[in-house]
Amino acid sequence: MTKRKLDLKVMKNLVFPYLPTLVGVNVGEKPNYIAIGLIGWLCYDTMSVSIGHQQYSRKGFEENRTFSVNQPGAKLVRELDFCGMASGRTVDKAALFETFYGETKTAPMIAECPVNVECRVVQTLVRPVHTVYLGEVVAVHVSEDCVTDGIMDVTRIEPIFYAPDPSQGKQVHSYWTLGQRIGRTYEVGKDLRPT
Ligand SMILES: Cc1cc2nc3c(=O)[nH]c(=O)nc-3n(C[C@H](O)[C@H](O)[C@H](O)COP(=O)(O)O)c2cc1C
Repeated sequence: MTKRKLDLKVMKNLVFPYLPTLVGVNVGEKPNYIAIGLIGWLCYDTMSVSIGHQQYSRKGFEENRTFSVNQPGAKLVRELDFCGMASGRTVDKAALFETFYGETKTAPMIAECPVNVECRVVQTLVRPVHTVYLGEVVAVHVSEDCVTDGIMDVTRIEPIFYAPDPSQGKQVHSYWTLGQRIGRTYEVGKDLRPT
């Protein structure tokens, strides 16, 4: 097996596929949405989002200590990309969406996104490029048309992921949708158990 060591200084070397989201905060009582790839579920009730120090959205995190994580479906790929290029400093990105509020009252959410998670900041971690906000999950909302037999249905949500795309040249990422179902969890690996 031959391995290649990637250059960590080149940010675009982020190698795993990311599930980008639209993160919502209120800045000066107005909603703003930022495209965020660096998000994670740290455990069942805690999410993390990494916000570059220079981002306008950071003000909203500091003002209200609440945020939302909105998962766009494939239909919203243009809006997602735009919210990753334009800043709330100069553009009203919230005009692209219908905004609603939930339990936190200050974390704006996007009605058009099939999944919305509202969070309250419980901890922050300052790293050289980003501030990582850890949020306790306050509530999760799912669009009715993305639920089948009472269960959230990923085939209806059509989540977007992005990853490096060698077909487009060096350091270029592209957006993709999910491929085929390849097995059931806690089942597909069963036959590797020693007998
Ligand atoms: C797909 C995608 C993912 C991104 N992920 C992040 C991220 O994880 N953290 C970050 O600070 N910026 C990220 N960005 C860049 C911000 O979305 C972008 O700088 C945005 O314009 C900042 O908006 P604001 O100034 O309104 O806060 C990403 C952009 C794209 C297109």
